[in-house]
Amino acid sequence: MTGTNPTPALYPVPDAFASKARVGSRAAYDQLVAAAEADYAGYWAQHARELLAWNKPFTKTLDESQAPFFKWFEDGELNASYNCLDRHVEAGLGDKVAIIFESDDGIVSKVTYKELLSRVSRLANVLKAQGVKKGDRVVLYLPMSVDGVVAMQACARIGATHSVVFGGFSAQSLRDRIEDAGAVLVITADEQKRGGKNLPLKAIVDEAISLGGCDSVKQMLVVRRTGGSVPMVAGRDAWLDELTASASDVCAPEWVSAEHPLFLLYTSGSTGKPKGVQHSTGGYLVHATLTTQWTFDLRPDDVFWCTADIGWVTGHTYVAYGPLSCGGTQVVFEGVPTYPDSARFWRMIQAHKVSIFYTAPTAIRALIKAAESNAEVHPKQFDLSSLRLLGTVGEPINPAAWEWYHREIGAGKCPIVDTFWQTETGGHMITPLPGAHALTPGSCTLPFPGIDAAVVDETGKEVPWGQGGVLVVRKPWPSMIRTIWGDPERFKKSYYPADFGGKYYLAGDGAIRDAETGYFTITGRIDDVLNVSGHRMGTMEIESALVSHPLVAEAAVVGRPDDLTGEAICAFVVLKRPRPTGDEAKKLAAELRNHVGHEIGPIAKPKDIRFGDNLPKTRSGKIMRRLLRVIAKGDAVTQDTSTLENPAILDQLAQSN
Ligand code: PRX
Repeated sequence: MTGTNPTPALYPVPDAFASKARVGSRAAYDQLVAAAEADYAGYWAQHARELLAWNKPFTKTLDESQAPFFKWFEDGELNASYNCLDRHVEAGLGDKVAIIFESDDGIVSKVTYKELLSRVSRLANVLKAQGVKKGDRVVLYLPMSVDGVVAMQACARIGATHSVVFGGFSAQSLRDRIEDAGAVLVITADEQKRGGKNLPLKAIVDEAISLGGCDSVKQMLVVRRTGGSVPMVAGRDAWLDELTASASDVCAPEWVSAEHPLFLLYTSGSTGKPKGVQHSTGGYLVHATLTTQWTFDLRPDDVFWCTADIGWVTGHTYVAYGPLSCGGTQVVFEGVPTYPDSARFWRMIQAHKVSIFYTAPTAIRALIKAAESNAEVHPKQFDLSSLRLLGTVGEPINPAAWEWYHREIGAGKCPIVDTFWQTETGGHMITPLPGAHALTPGSCTLPFPGIDAAVVDETGKEVPWGQGGVLVVRKPWPSMIRTIWGDPERFKKSYYPADFGGKYYLAGDGAIRDAETGYFTITGRIDDVLNVSGHRMGTMEIESALVSHPLVAEAAVVGRPDDLTGEAICAFVVLKRPRPTGDEAKKLAAELRNHVGHEIGPIAKPKDIRFGDNLPKTRSGKIMRRLLRVIAKGDAVTQDTSTLENPAILDQLAQSN
C-alpha cells in the first residue's frame, strides 16, 4: 500500500490470479477502456461478433435515431438458446455438466449440455403445440430449479418472451404482472420446497387468475415438484411431464432480431406499480457473456455458483444465460442458506468444489452471525480450498462483512468482485475485474470497460472525485433496458429525465468516487426505493398495500439502516380509529404486516409499524418523509420543523416504538 494513499486497506491483485486472468493487469483494463473510448460502436461490435453465434450477421451496431430508445445490432439474427446450448453441443461439449442441481433436501443431480438441450427442445415443442408463438409472453412462477432454467431457455428457443415472477410474490402481485404482460401461458409447479417446508405455487396462480384481469392466459403447465395434490382445471391446466414425455427432443431455434424482447422482468420504482423492464436478445446476451468472462473470469474447468433466484435479474444473467452462454458448469440450488443449518453454503462449496461463488451481502451477514454463535457452522469446519473468486451483488457490502468474506471464505487469497448493477442494466456496470483491480472493501471500483459511468451534479456536470453526486451512464450500452413494457413515456421519464437534458441514463443511486483512486462507492438510492436484503421495494407500493386495509387511513413508509438486512422497512400508520397502544398496537401491527405480506409478498412486510394520530406534514399537506427517516432511525430531530403544520406529532411518533 502506498504511503500517500488515504484509502484504507487496498488489497492488491494476487499474482497467482492475475497471471492467469483474462484481463490480467490494470494496464490491460486501461487499454480496453481506451479502445471503447476510441471507437465505441466498433468495440461493442467486435465483442458481439466474437462472443456470439449469429444466424445473420448485423451490419449496423448502434442506432441512436430514436434516443433514448436505443437499438443494438438490430438487423442481426440470433437465438439465445442456440447460443447457450446447441453451439456447445456442436463443439463437442455435449457431455459436459451444465448444471449441478442440489435440492432443498440435499438430493444432487447433474445435467449435461446435451441433456439440457434435449429438455429445452421438448418443452419448446410443447409450448409450440399449446399455440405459443414468437413474441407471446409466458409467465414463469417456479421454484429455483433446472425446470426454471429449462423454461426460460425454451421460451427463448421459440422467440416467446418470458417474464419470471419470484415465487415469494403474492397472488395479487402475480396477477398484476400477468395482466400487465398479457401472458398467454403460465408455467408453475405444484409446490416449492424451501427450508424443509412445502409451499404452494399452483394454488397461488389459481388465486391470481381468480382475482380477474388474466383473461389472456389460456393454458397453465404444472411441474410436478412435491407431488402435492393440486386441483387441475380441465382444458386449461396440464402436467408438464406428461406433455414433454411424448414431445420430440428436436426443435429448431427460432431466429429473432437482436432487438427481439428476450424477457420482461418486473421491478419496483419510486411511483406506482412495478414496471416491466424489457430486455433485448442480442445486446443482453453480449453483455451477459462478456461480464461472465471478464468479471468472473469463467474458465472451462470452473464450477460457478450464483446463489440468486431466477426470479431476480441476477438469476437471469448469471444463472440462466451468462454461464450457459460461456459453456460453463454451474451449481443451481433450490433451498435457503440456513437449512438444515447455516453451514449449507459452505458444505455445498466443499461438496461440489465450487471455484467461483457469487452471493448477496445479506446472506453473508446472516452467516457471519450464525458462525459467531455456533462453531459447528463456522466456515473453518469446511474445506473451501476450491474457491478462487468471490462476488457480491444487490446492495452495498459493509467493510466488516467484506473483510470476513475475504478472510474466512476466501482464505485471504480470493479477490472479491463487488458488482454494481440493476435489473435495468442487464449485467455488471461498475465492478472490479479481478485480475486488474486492487480492491477496497465497500467499493465496486471502476466501470466495466465500455460502460461510461459518471458521478454528476443536478445539472449533469461531473463532480470532482471525493464529492458525492448522482450516478449516471452517459452512453447507451448493449444490455440496457429497452423500454418499460407498455409504457414508453414512463421509461423516458424514469431513466432519461429532462433534468440531465434527457441524455444520461439515471441509475437512481447516489455515488462518490475516491479522491485518490477514482473508485466508485454506491451511497444508496436517491429515490423512494428501498433495498431490503438486496430486494428492491418501492415505498409507494407498500403504502398502497397498507392503505388498502380497511382500518388504515394513511401510511408513510421509509427505510432505516439495519445490521442484517441493510435496510429495514418502517411504516408510520394512522388508523381510522383512535391510535392503538400496548397489546392492541401489537396485535394490529401483526395484522397489518400479514396484510402487506398478502398484498405483495412476505419480503415487503414492514419490520416496524408505528401508529400516530397523524403524520408530520407541511402546511401544503406534504408528508415530511425526511423527518420520518430520522425518527425511524431512532435519532433526535434536529432539523428546523417550523414549516410543519403539526410539529407535536414528532414527539408522539418518536415514542411510538
Ligand atoms: O441501489 C443499487 C443496489 O441495488 C439496486 C438495483 O436493484 P435490482 O434492480 O433489484 O438489482 C439487484 C441485482 C443487480 C441498485 O440501484 N445495488 C446493486 N448492486 C449493488 C448495489 N448497491 C451497492 N453495491 C452493489 N454492488
